[in-house]
Amino acid sequence: MNSQDVEGSLTRCATFLTLSCNYDDETLDTVRDFFGTLPSLVKAVGFRNFDAGLSCVVGIGAHLWDHLNPGIKPKGLHPFKEIQGVHQAPSTPGDILLHIRAATQDYCFELAHHIMNTLGDRVKVEDETQGFKFFDNRDLLGFVDGTENPVGTALNEAVLVSDEDAFFQGSSYVIVQKYLHDMKTWDRMPVEHQETIIGRHKLSDIEFADDKKASYAHNVLTNIEDSEGNALEILRDNMPFGSPGNAEYGTYFIGYGRDPDRIETMLNNMFIGLPPGNYDRILDVSTAITGGLFFVPTADLLDALSSGEPLIEDNETSQASSGIHSSPEKSAGTGSLNIGSLKSAK
Ligand code: HEM
Repeated sequence: MNSQDVEGSLTRCATFLTLSCNYDDETLDTVRDFFGTLPSLVKAVGFRNFDAGLSCVVGIGAHLWDHLNPGIKPKGLHPFKEIQGVHQAPSTPGDILLHIRAATQDYCFELAHHIMNTLGDRVKVEDETQGFKFFDNRDLLGFVDGTENPVGTALNEAVLVSDEDAFFQGSSYVIVQKYLHDMKTWDRMPVEHQETIIGRHKLSDIEFADDKKASYAHNVLTNIEDSEGNALEILRDNMPFGSPGNAEYGTYFIGYGRDPDRIETMLNNMFIGLPPGNYDRILDVSTAITGGLFFVPTADLLDALSSGEPLIEDNETSQASSGIHSSPEKSAGTGSLNIGSLKSAK
């Protein structure tokens, strides 16, 4: 299982590109070629300085996935569902998400430049955001963001698909939303009130004791469990972005999960409330202006998609989705893909 760099280190800089495209044959060929070329682009730019830690994760939207005709679909892949709650979470267009990370912005910029040259005018840029880490990993609301991210085996457990969708083992899902903050209202709020909304102390980043947290605190509404009481975690790599000259201050939310349900449950808790009406007060000062859901195939699957051949024969689809096949790893030496039903990559 050769996952993309989902679990890559959380860097100081990132570029988020959301692209959409038509589904005509020429465009699909260009997109497939791009999937095959991307690893060498990352290598070429990143090799100049390993310390830059350049990486790029590609996510594929539900409509594009269907048009690529892979013959099998990840169980959790669907378009982002808009939420009409106390606050609104819109669903906005997007076929490809690129999450480019590096220690410095020049590496993100250079890779984005080569990616856009490769895709040319076959794609439409729906959104491009340059994110940066702000002092000690704070968001622009002034709170340290990312502290409770899972690490080690808990991280794999949180973000990588496993037996529940055996053909896609090692893949992941990602949800992104771009938020704009009303900084004037936030800055007028007493710090104690801000801390109640987040559920942590602002300066020290220490979490409130459970019995001191408000029922609507961000870390209460986003702390979810399965029916057996196991924590359902996600990996976040949120980035501040903005333009003081245009009074634009925002947070780019990006969350990876082994299924999208857990992120959607958190979103419902935040926007509708738990119980309904007990919503996340971050949203009184933060407006979601985009929303997208993407599947992140393993690196091997991404390569296999570039061939243009179905990943699986029609008559084997049901076996694969019931978990009979192993994951599509490359077998050493031959360079071909490891399962009979998976056609070999280019
Ligand atoms: C304006 C957007 C957002 C801001 C500024 C924000 C900020 C924060 C901050 C400051 C923390 C506490 C420190 C930490 O553990 O990282 C946090 C925790 C967390 N956030 Fe957010 N967040 C935002 C949106 C979201 C969204 C949309 C989700 C999920 C759909 C989410 C999920 C979580 C989770 C799971 C935690 C950890 C909770 C815990 O177990 O303690 N956040 N966020």
